[in-house]
Amino acid sequence: MVRERSTAIGGRPTRWLEAGEGNTTHALVWLHAFPLGADMWRAQLETVPDGWRLIAPDLAGFGGTADHTGPPSIDDFAQDLDELAGYLGLRHFVLGGLSMGGYAVFAYLRLNPSRVKGIVLADTKSGADSPQARDGRQKMLDLVAAKGCPAIADEMLPKLLGATTQRIDTGLMLDVRAMIESNSAEGVSRAIQRLRDRPDATPQLASTFVPALVIVGEEDGITPVAEARAMVNALPDGTLAVLPGAGHLSNLEAPDTFGAALLPWMAAL
Ligand code: MLT
Repeated sequence: MVRERSTAIGGRPTRWLEAGEGNTTHALVWLHAFPLGADMWRAQLETVPDGWRLIAPDLAGFGGTADHTGPPSIDDFAQDLDELAGYLGLRHFVLGGLSMGGYAVFAYLRLNPSRVKGIVLADTKSGADSPQARDGRQKMLDLVAAKGCPAIADEMLPKLLGATTQRIDTGLMLDVRAMIESNSAEGVSRAIQRLRDRPDATPQLASTFVPALVIVGEEDGITPVAEARAMVNALPDGTLAVLPGAGHLSNLEAPDTFGAALLPWMAAL
């Protein structure tokens, strides 16, 4: 059963989903993609392995979690996670993120690596934005300011979901649209600035010694298979899983094959 919980973390309302009864070391925290929310992890929470506890927070500015008031930084997500982990009594946990969630995993590894016993990097990359990508962020900032989250959904849906999903799964397309449109324009705008200004995490990879599972949808056009392979080659203990028929939102598009890659890896930790 998936439980919805909330409290004030750092004085700001924070919402997260939780499942399972694992102890404080058999815990996995999932960080969501842009511009979605914790609910994108429901399928994974509903299939929580015995003995594990899964936690999926809404990141600052998304869903039920209030944003910081200062200039936005990807490090805000790491700070919030550290406070949430303290509140939940998680001393040593597995940290997973998809795309923007992966960028937040790298931020957390910069902040408090001693708490992390393994990482899952799904449909993400370690590099910073190129000058061209930064121009694209400005267009997105202009779009969300002018037309709000429905326009962001129009722009992003064809990129987030793979060709196979777009052909066969209209229901998932509607669900993802609803998740995007449930967010505030301000939260999305501040997240775009966080994405644009994040540092290059590539130099961190060689000294990330914990087991790392890198998952990527074969049809991911935002963070393609080549990005995933490059991370696995640079990580000391990386394992690659390429999911056929899935795009960028691989955990939503192919929950069964996502689980088939994840669960044995978790069991071996
Ligand atoms: C995401 O899925 O979180 C975003 O596509 C990440 C990005 O735009 O860099």
